[in-house]
Amino acid sequence: MNQYISCKVVVGLILLSCSVLIVAQSPSRACFQFTWLGPQFNNESVFMNATCQDAVRLASGVPCREPLVVSENGTWPNMNYIWTNHRQQATCVPAANDVCATFTYYFNGHVENATYMCTRAVDSSGNAISRGCFEQRNGSFVTRACFCQSVEGGLPCNNATLSNILSFTAFLLAMTVTIIKS
Ligand SMILES: *[C@@H]1O[C@H](CO)[C@@H](O)[C@H](O)[C@H]1NC(C)=O
Ligand SMILES: *[C@@H]1O[C@H](CO)[C@@H](O)[C@H](O)[C@H]1NC(C)=O
Ligand SMILES: *[C@@H]1O[C@H](CO)[C@@H](O)[C@H](O)[C@H]1NC(C)=O
Ligand SMILES: *[C@@H]1O[C@H](CO)[C@@H](O)[C@H](O)[C@H]1NC(C)=O
Ligand SMILES: *[C@@H]1O[C@H](CO)[C@@H](O)[C@H](O)[C@H]1NC(C)=O
Ligand SMILES: *[C@@H]1O[C@H](CO)[C@@H](O)[C@H](O)[C@H]1NC(C)=O
Repeated sequence: MNQYISCKVVVGLILLSCSVLIVAQSPSRACFQFTWLGPQFNNESVFMNATCQDAVRLASGVPCREPLVVSENGTWPNMNYIWTNHRQQATCVPAANDVCATFTYYFNGHVENATYMCTRAVDSSGNAISRGCFEQRNGSFVTRACFCQSVEGGLPCNNATLSNILSFTAFLLAMTVTIIKS
């Protein structure tokens, strides 16, 4: 029995989870939906049908969305490439009150991984968040959550690929963001 992932390897990008979500084709709003496992993985990493449960090692509350994505050389996956070639697997259509979200984990200022999804989010006062970035620090660990609303028929707005925490200066609101639907 082949223990390794049997997905087709595509140029520039490997989609590790083959489960395909069929997304409605009508012009609608779209968000990217996938987890990039980070720079420590590349096309020579070995995976055994990895799932989100494997990736987060059963830690609860850690955002993760399949498909799991790894780039050939460990750099941030090319968002245009995903949009062009893997739109059906790697996007979601936000429900009425949902926004597009990107959760990025950093250690010592360097990116560890990133998860893109459709979600509903509230701030620590219980108010719905429709846009903006929020950051939580815990020692050398930083988690950044960014939210936005895509326009109908347009590119997903959660397309950020900023790998270095130092490149963020605009938003610095320490707060707790709760993902309601996960
Ligand atoms: C991995 O996936 C393949 C194809 O879906 C399946 O045949 C195989 O049994 C799976 N292996 C494990 C260890 O789950
Ligand atoms: C990684 O690969 C991408 C495209 O596959 C390329 O654009 C980029 O320059 C490469 N980066 C490094 C550090 O090799
Ligand atoms: C992302 O990185 C953080 C910090 O290292 C880790 O706790 C989390 O499990 C990772 N998430 C995924 C989906 O790999
Ligand atoms: C991984 O990608 C690099 C280019 O980034 C390529 O040179 C190498 O042959 C690839 N390795 C495998 C096992 O596909
Ligand atoms: C901060 O990190 C430490 C060590 O990783 C962990 O034990 C602790 O639970 C974290 N605190 C919060 C509030 O996440
Ligand atoms: C991200 O998407 C927005 C809205 O579609 C667009 O204005 C922006 O140029 C995109 N940024 C990148 C880095 O692709």
